[in-house]
Amino acid sequence: MEDGSSMKKFYIETFGCQMNVHDSEKVIGTLEGTGYAQVPTPEEADLVVYNTCSIRDKAEQKVFARLNEFKRRSKDKVFAVIGCVAQQEGEKIFDRAPHVSLVAGSASYNQLPQMLIQLEAGNKRVTGLSLDGEEAFEVPYTRRDNPHKAFLTIIEGCDKSCAYCVVPMTRGPERSRTSASVLEEARILVKDGYTEITLLGQNVNSYRDPSSMGLDFAKLLRRMGEIDGLKRVRFTTSHPRDFVKDIVDAVDENPVLCNHIHLPVQSGSTAVLDRMQRQYTRDEYMRRIEWMKNAKRDIAITSDIIVGFPGETEADFDQTLRLLDEVQYDGLFAFKYSQRPNTPALQYEDHMTEEEKGRRLAAVQEHQRQIQIPNNAAYIGRVEEVIVDGYNKATQQWLGKNTQNKTISFTHPLMPNNEEGASLEGRYLNVRVTRSGPASLGGEAVI
Ligand code: SAH
Ligand code: SF4
Ligand code: F3S
Repeated sequence: MEDGSSMKKFYIETFGCQMNVHDSEKVIGTLEGTGYAQVPTPEEADLVVYNTCSIRDKAEQKVFARLNEFKRRSKDKVFAVIGCVAQQEGEKIFDRAPHVSLVAGSASYNQLPQMLIQLEAGNKRVTGLSLDGEEAFEVPYTRRDNPHKAFLTIIEGCDKSCAYCVVPMTRGPERSRTSASVLEEARILVKDGYTEITLLGQNVNSYRDPSSMGLDFAKLLRRMGEIDGLKRVRFTTSHPRDFVKDIVDAVDENPVLCNHIHLPVQSGSTAVLDRMQRQYTRDEYMRRIEWMKNAKRDIAITSDIIVGFPGETEADFDQTLRLLDEVQYDGLFAFKYSQRPNTPALQYEDHMTEEEKGRRLAAVQEHQRQIQIPNNAAYIGRVEEVIVDGYNKATQQWLGKNTQNKTISFTHPLMPNNEEGASLEGRYLNVRVTRSGPASLGGEAVI
C-alpha cells in the first residue's frame, strides 16, 4: 500500500445478509474517516476488503474464489477478509490465502482504525477476532448510500442454537443496544432526511433494552412509531419462538410500522423442527400466523425454508408444502441444507444427496409460485402507496415498494433524465395496480 500524501484507495465487496450490508456501511464510513477513498474496482485499490458470509458453503466459497483471482493478478495490494467467514475461520485464512493481511469479525470493527495503523506499518497478519470485547454499535462515521432508507442495528449476535447454523459462532452471543441510543439514532436519521428505517438483528424479537427503561421489542417498535417525520419502520429477522402477539398489536395500531413480517419457519414438520432445535412446533408456528391473519391490517408474511435437512422424509417434506398452502406466504426464500463447520447437525445421519435436495428445492419453489400467482392477481385494481426506489431503463418503468414490501413497477409521466423526474426517488406516491406476475406487481402512478 502507498503511504505519503496521495489518498489511499479501498475497494469493498459485500456478501450475505442486510446485517453485513449495514456493517459495510460502518466499515466504509470508518475507512473514509481515516483518510481512505472508495474506488469502484479492486484493480484501482490499495486495500481490497471482502465482507464475507458463511451461512451456506457456496457463500463461503465465493470469497476464496475472489482471493484466488487476485493471487495471480496482483502483489502490491493489501487484502482484508472481514465478517462471518473471518470470524469462523480466523487465522486459518492466512494459511489458505497467504496474501491476506487482515482478518476481522464484526465485533471488532470499532477497532478498525488501530488495525489499519498496524497494516500500514507493514504488519502482515493483523487480526480482530475477539467476541467478548467492548463493542460500539455505531462507529463515528456510517456511510449510507441510500438517502431515504436506513438500516439501524438494535441487537447483535444470536443466543439460539439452530442445529444447522453458523451465526451464533460468527456473530457471538446476543447484545442489545439501549433504547435511548436506538431512538436517538433514529431521530438523527429523520433529521437527515431518511423516511424509512429497518431495525436489524439476527433475532429482533429477543431485543431487551439493557438500560433501566427495560423496553422489550414490541415496546421499542411502539416508540419508533411515535417518531415525528418517520414514514416507515421495518424489522428483520423475527424468530417464531420469541415472537409475541404484542408485536402484531403494535403493527396493527400504528401504520408507520410496515405491515410486513418475515417469520422464517424452516420446515413444516414438527419432527424436523425438533431436530433443527428451532424450539417451536408446527402448531405453535401456525398460532403466530393466526395472530397476523386476524389482525385488522393486511399483514404480508414471508419466510425462509430449508429443504433436505438430515432425515427429512417425503412425509416431512410434504408437511412443508402443506404449510405453504395454509399460510399462503407473500414471498419465500428456500435453501438447500448446507453442512456447516462446527454445527450440531453435522453429527446427524441420513444426509441427503445434492440431487434429492435439488428436487425438493425446485418443488418448494414451484409450489410457492403457484400460491403467489393468484394472490398477486388479487392486487389488481388496488391503489398502493409506494416509496420510489429508482428507474429501470430496460422496462422504462419506475420501481417502488409498498408497505408490505412488494415491489411495484409503474409508469409515471416524469422521466429520470430531467431534474423533476430525478427527484421522484424517495418520494411516496400512489400507484394503481394493473398487472401482476408470480413475483411482481405493475401499474401506473395516480397523478
Ligand atoms: N437469524 C435469522 C436468519 C438466519 S440466516 C433467522 O433465524 O431466521 C437466513 C436463513 O438462511 C435462515 O433462515 C435459513 O433458512 C438459512 N440457513 C441458515 N443456515 C443454513 C444452512 N446451513 N443451510 C441452508 N440454509 C441455511
Ligand atoms: Fe441461526 Fe437460528 Fe440464530 Fe437464526 S435463530 S441466526 S437460524 S441460530
Ligand atoms: Fe451470512 Fe453472517 Fe449474515 S453468515 S447471513 S453474513 S450473519
